Amino acid sequence: MSTAINWSARVGTRVQSLQEYAPEPLEEIAERLNLPVGQLIKLDANENPYGPTPHALEALSAFHAQNRYPDPISRRLRRAIGGYLGMDAAHILVGNGSDELIDLILRLFRPDSTRQRAAAADNAQQDAAATGIGQLLVCPPTFGMYEFYGATNDLQVLSIPRAAAFAVDIDAIEALCADDPRPRIAFFASPNNPDGALLPDATLERLLALPLLVVLDEAYVEFSTSNEEAVCPSRARQVPAHENLIVLRTFSKWAGLAGLRVGYGVFPKALVPALQRLKSPYNVNAIAQTAALATLEDLPQALVVVDKIIAERERLLARLAEIPYLNVYASQANYLLCRVHGLPMTRLCAAMERLGIILRYYEGPELGDCVRISVGTPMQDEALLRVLRGLQQEERAS
Ligand SMILES: Cc1ncc(COP(=O)(O)O)c(C=O)c1O
Repeated sequence: MSTAINWSARVGTRVQSLQEYAPEPLEEIAERLNLPVGQLIKLDANENPYGPTPHALEALSAFHAQNRYPDPISRRLRRAIGGYLGMDAAHILVGNGSDELIDLILRLFRPDSTRQRAAAADNAQQDAAATGIGQLLVCPPTFGMYEFYGATNDLQVLSIPRAAAFAVDIDAIEALCADDPRPRIAFFASPNNPDGALLPDATLERLLALPLLVVLDEAYVEFSTSNEEAVCPSRARQVPAHENLIVLRTFSKWAGLAGLRVGYGVFPKALVPALQRLKSPYNVNAIAQTAALATLEDLPQALVVVDKIIAERERLLARLAEIPYLNVYASQANYLLCRVHGLPMTRLCAAMERLGIILRYYEGPELGDCVRISVGTPMQDEALLRVLRGLQQEERAS
C-alpha cells in the first residue's frame, strides 16, 4: 500500500546541494579509452605505484580471521603507531582512512540541535550555548574533503584563499579572528594538496595562538625531508604540548594501502574518549589493521620505497622544468603540480589519454591551467615525459 509520501523529496537540502564524488574506476577508463587496463598509467590520485611492502603482502595472504570482528579500538595498531611516532598511544585514534577522521572531528564539534540544547538546559548539565563549533575555516586551493565534510555536518564554511605560490594568508586569518574571535575549526594540509608545500613553522605558530582548533593533515609528510636534519618534519609530536592541535596521518600514500583505508589522528588526550564514543564501532576492518601493523613491522622496507619515490620526484621535477610550456612547483609530497601555458589543456589531456596516462586536471580560475602529476615508477614517468616532449615538438612545428 502506498503511503503517498514522496520520500526522495524529503532528503535534506544539505544533501541536494552536494556533488557526487565518484572518480572513474580503472576498468571503465580502459573501456572509454579503448585500451587494456594493464596499459594505463594512473598518476591522478597520489597512490604508491609500488604497493604494500612484501611483509604486508604476506600478512594479507596469511589472514584467516574473516569471520571475526576486528578490535574496535585497534589496540595493537595504535601501540605500533605510538612506537613509530615515538608517542603515547593514548593520543592516537585509527580511522577508515583519514577521510573518516576529518568527518569525525567535525561531527565531534557539531553544534547541538535546539532540542538537545533545551534538554541540556533542563537538566542543568552545562552551558549548552557554549558547546559546539559552527564555523569551518579552509584555505583553498587545498584538499576538497574538508569543505565537503563541513557541508555534510552543517558547518558554515569560511574560505580564505591562499596568497601567491599557495602560501596560507595568515594575516587575513589573524584579521578575521581579531574581528570575530569565536572558536573555529581550521584544516591545513602539510604538504598541501595540490602544490606540495609544507606549512611553515612560523605560520603554524601564529595559527596555534588564535582561537582555532588547527587540524594539520599530514597525509604526505613521509615524503617530506625539507628540514635541516633531512628527517620527516611531522608535527605529530607537538600535539601533547597544544590543546588546539590535531595531526592526521594515513597509510594510503607512503605505505601503499589506499585501497584498505587506514588513517589515524594524533589528538590532544582530552578529546580521545569522546571520539572513541562517537566513531562507528568497527570502523577499521581487520584486514586493514593487519596490513598497517605488518607495514610498521617492516618499516625499513617501507622507507626504502619512500626514498625511491622521493628520488624519483626530484628527477621528474628536473625533467619537467626543462619543458618550456610548464611551470612546475617544487613539492614535498609524491606529486608535482604544473601550470601549463601556451598549450590548451584539452590538447594535453587528449595526448595523455591516447597513451592511457591519467593525470589530475582541475576546473576554475585558480587551477584551471594546472595539472597534478603523481610520481610514478621511472618507466611510467618516462612515458609521461615522452608525451610532453612530443607536444613541445608539435608546438614548434605548428
Ligand atoms: C591532503 C589529503 N588528506 C587526506 C587524504 C585522504 O587520505 P585517506 O586515504 O587516508 O582517506 C588525501 C587523499 O588524497 C589527501 O590528499
